[in-house]
Amino acid sequence: MKILVTGGLGFIGSHTVVELQNEGFEVVIIDNLSNSSIEVLDGIEAITRKRPLFEKMDLRDKPKVQEFFKKHPDVEGVIHFAASKAVGESVEKPLLYYENNLGVLVYLLQELTQKNKANFIFSSSCTVYGQADTLPITEDAPVKPAESPYGNTKQIGEEIIRDTCAISPQLAAIALRYFNPIGAHPTVELGELPLGVPQNLVPFITQTGVGLREQLSVFGDDYPTEDGTCIRDYIHVVDVAKAHVVALQRLLQGKNESNYEVFNLGTGKGSSVLEVIHSFERVSGEKLNYQVVDRRPGDVIQAYADTTKANEVLGWKAASTLDDSMKSAWDWELKVRR
Ligand code: UD1
Repeated sequence: MKILVTGGLGFIGSHTVVELQNEGFEVVIIDNLSNSSIEVLDGIEAITRKRPLFEKMDLRDKPKVQEFFKKHPDVEGVIHFAASKAVGESVEKPLLYYENNLGVLVYLLQELTQKNKANFIFSSSCTVYGQADTLPITEDAPVKPAESPYGNTKQIGEEIIRDTCAISPQLAAIALRYFNPIGAHPTVELGELPLGVPQNLVPFITQTGVGLREQLSVFGDDYPTEDGTCIRDYIHVVDVAKAHVVALQRLLQGKNESNYEVFNLGTGKGSSVLEVIHSFERVSGEKLNYQVVDRRPGDVIQAYADTTKANEVLGWKAASTLDDSMKSAWDWELKVRR
């Protein structure tokens, strides 16, 4: 069964391709290599002994998208990762984000709604909840005004899919709201490869640990949390990847309760920035050089998932601990810099 994975050479996409191939799916990847590297195909092949089909394509090229679906009429499902994801950059370049994250989504849905049957999985984010009033965060928590164009594209993206599903009974979609995916494949054949200075906590920690960055800045320790630093729900990327396969199978087997569903992907456990640092120090045996600085504008204080719906309805549960995730992130960093 052929599955299209857009952005399949990216961090979460590549791990998902591995899990799909492990389950026997035939995968075709579309990626424009804007934030990924072609060598990721080798990593996927090393793990699964199978090289996925690959087309280098920018999905903003609508005629190319149409051509692709003509060439591959047997695509039975689409997992759509391809998107821009840097919060700060989205403030500087809003139109790039709206074009990349929403224009492309529209093109894909235009193709899928012409099929007799289509299944679609969308990468959403816990950012849609903003600072939730109640913790842990359930899927019913209200969507809060977006803090950035990036966050807005995830909210509007969900609305576009919901509205399309409402008039397209032949289309079934699931939006997965990721909390904070981290870590790397246990084989260290795949992991996160941020271009330039990492914006996210864990790659910044491992790059500091390996000596590529001098010091980690901890953005604020005067938040109303136990140790004063922000709390997030860090989830192993392999757990996130597996959830995509479970979600896809749910649609393929017609187990979904409606043709548009939303699930949180988290562990259910919140960890503070200092706890993440301590986990890193535990698994690496390294002392991390860090300093507390001012808060980062736009950061929410706490976000962690209520995973009841994902556990009971989707039938998926995160298996890895924070230490497992940090260990794999560290092993990957050591391999990449060696
Ligand atoms: C951020 C985005 C989120 C997006 C995700 C995608 C915001 C508010 N949220 O998540 O919408 O989906 O990236 O990548 O921008 N931290 C430090 N020092 C650092 C880096 C981070 O102390 O050098 C802290 C942050 O203040 C935060 C935590 O680490 O408390 C996690 O930060 P990060 O990895 O950037 O993820 P989010 O901000 O949760």
